[in-house]
Order: sequence, then C-alpha cells, then structure tokens
Amino acid sequence: MKALIIERNGDPSEVVRCCDVPEPTPGPAEVRVKMLLAPVHPSDLHVIRGRFARHRQPELPASPGSEGVGIIDSVGSDVPRARVGERVVLLDVPGTWREQVISPADRAISVPTAISDEDAAQALINPMTAWAMTMCEHQLERGDWLVQSAAGSTVGRLVLQIAKAQGFRTINLVRRDEQVAEIQALGGDVVLSTADERWPEQLANATGGNGIVSAIDCVAGRTGAALARQLAPNGRLLVYGALSSHRQTDQAAFEMPIFAPALVYSAAEVRGWFIFSWLARKGVNEGSQTLRSLLDRIADGSLKPPAAHRYRLDRAQEAFTAAERAAHDAKPLLMFAER
Ligand SMILES: NC(=O)c1ccc[n+]([C@@H]2O[C@H](COP(=O)([O-])OP(=O)(O)OC[C@H]3O[C@@H](n4cnc5c(N)ncnc54)[C@H](OP(=O)(O)O)[C@@H]3O)[C@@H](O)[C@H]2O)c1
Repeated sequence: MKALIIERNGDPSEVVRCCDVPEPTPGPAEVRVKMLLAPVHPSDLHVIRGRFARHRQPELPASPGSEGVGIIDSVGSDVPRARVGERVVLLDVPGTWREQVISPADRAISVPTAISDEDAAQALINPMTAWAMTMCEHQLERGDWLVQSAAGSTVGRLVLQIAKAQGFRTINLVRRDEQVAEIQALGGDVVLSTADERWPEQLANATGGNGIVSAIDCVAGRTGAALARQLAPNGRLLVYGALSSHRQTDQAAFEMPIFAPALVYSAAEVRGWFIFSWLARKGVNEGSQTLRSLLDRIADGSLKPPAAHRYRLDRAQEAFTAAERAAHDAKPLLMFAER
C-alpha cells in the first residue's frame, strides 16, 4: 500500500515521499481503516518541518497527517465483525497520510450518512478547537460576549457558526479592512480591522469600557498582548496559535509581551490552549462523545467545515502549497481512494 512518508524534517517539497509499505494488520482491539480523504492542515506542515509541539513530533520515519475519513476494512479479534464497512473518522490517531491506518477501535468514530466525505475528513481538529474553547472552556451562554482574533481563519469562521447556533455574541479582529464586511455577513456582531492602529481603543469602546471577559487568540505577538492588556477582572484569554510568526520562522514574533500591572490588578488569566492536551485531559470517552456531537451538528447543517479540494497523491506537493494560502481558499484534502 502507498504511504506519504518523511524520513527527516525539512521543507515539505523536499522531504515528503510517496512509498510502498507493507499492509498493516490490526491487533486484537484495533481496526484497519482504508483511508478516503485526509486534510493538509498548517499544523501538519509544522510537523513535517519539525516545528510542532516536541511531544507531538513523531519518531521518524513516519507518515504525517492528523485526521481523516475512511472505511474499516479489517478488525482485530476483540472487535465485532459488523464494524467492517463502517465509515469512520479518527479521534487523535496521528499518521493518517497513508492508504491504510491502524486505529484503536474506540478511536474510530462512526460518521452519519448525511455527511459528505469532504466534511467528515475535517470534522476533528478545527471544529473541536472552536467548540471546546467556546463551549467547554469559556462555557459561553446566550448573550455572553467572546473576543476573537483572526476571525477570518477556519477556526474563526467555525466560532461564528457556533455563536449563531448557541446565541453568544462576538467581537472579531481581522487584519484587512476588506474582511470587515465579510465577517459581519457571517454574523460577527462587532468587527474591527487591526489595519487601523486605533483598534485597541475601538475594542475598549466595544466592551463598554468593562474589559474583556472571554477571549481566544491565534495571532499572539502584539495583537495577543493588546488583548491581554484589556482583560476584565478575572477575564480569561486562551492563546491557541501564533500566526503573527509567519510560518513559525520569526522567533521574535513568538513573543507576546504581557503588561504585568493589568494582569495583576485584574487577576486575569492568559493560558495556552492545545487540542491534543485537551483531548488527553478529557480521555477517549468524552473526546469521542464531543466528536459525535460535532458530527451530528455537521449532519444537521448547523456546523459547516470549509469547502475542500481533493488532490491525488501524485499532486500532494500542490496540496502543501495550497495549505499555506489564506483560509478563504478551499481546504486541501489528500485523496487515498476514489469512490
Ligand atoms: N491550539 C490548537 O489546538 C489549534 C487547533 C487548530 C488550529 N490552531 C491554530 O489556529 C490558527 C488558525 O488555524 P486555521 O486552520 O483556522 O488557520 P487558517 O484557516 O489557515 O487561517 C489563517 C488565517 O488567519 C489570518 N492571519 C494569518 N496571519 C495573521 C496575522 N498575523 N494576523 C491576523 N490574522 C492573520 C489570515 O487571514 P487573511 O489571509 O484572510 O487575512 C489567514 O487566512 C493556526 O495558528 C493554527 O495552527 C491551533
């Protein structure tokens, strides 16, 4: 079977190879999944470059890939034979960029028939990040306010959909003036462009001078620092990305200078957030329940992952290039089998 493999870290164009590898056999409590589609996320490219969380860098050689959809084609001795033929998504089973993936049976989650393969392939990382931060961590309720940066990102757009369904309100930061109308049209209650240097003052006005109670930030740098400075007493900012550091190469842009007096006097919290740490904390049962409820929301249309574009394995390099383009382009999906 074919697998995309890296033997060393480096630029995706240099280190990702398509290889023939032996077919794997599932152990007693495992299933083998014949993969259909797997997305290329910016974080997968960080793994390839060796710049992801150290404890999440695979031992090499390895296949990259952090999620995907496929069909169970073989089961271990402890798994009901009836699962063969089930269409599943994988709950934190790294290494999905291969034609066959071995997964613990309880991490292969059944996909409702109403969901397209394209949507199923991207049901985990970004939808769960958007849901867990807003509904589980901030526990936003109808009428609450959330401040978010990079509102035009995939996660940002999913947060807007969740806000509409759950009734919380959003103050959104975008980096380009042209994006303001687009995010308003997606339901953003307040949209500010950070291209206008008066945005921190506009943000203070938008919170009525009371400060930020709940925020999520994936830009970090000066944007994240400005959000931290405006936290309300006991306010909380979850930092889940560092887009201000282009391709994670500018070390200085990883820094997020916190204005200590504001943090101290408001007894506010600035905390990192990482989906895999959250999933590890929750355990397989709660993680799979959350994923099932997200699949139900995708099936009923209240949550819609971005449009996608399929790439055959011989065009994987084009998929990597596409993954580094803006969020409003289609999400690149690697295609392992046609149906
Ligand atoms: N911690 C976690 O567990 C977790 C989980 C999922 C995602 N993430 C992170 O969350 C971030 C967003 O992910 P995504 O998949 O939603 O990204 P994405 O769809 O690729 O969107 C990124 C968008 O953010 C905007 N952007 C880029 N650099 C920016 C900057 N310096 N300032 C403001 N906006 C900027 C751009 O919008 P325009 O080009 O339209 O201006 C870009 O299209 C990434 O850093 C990703 O690694 C973290």
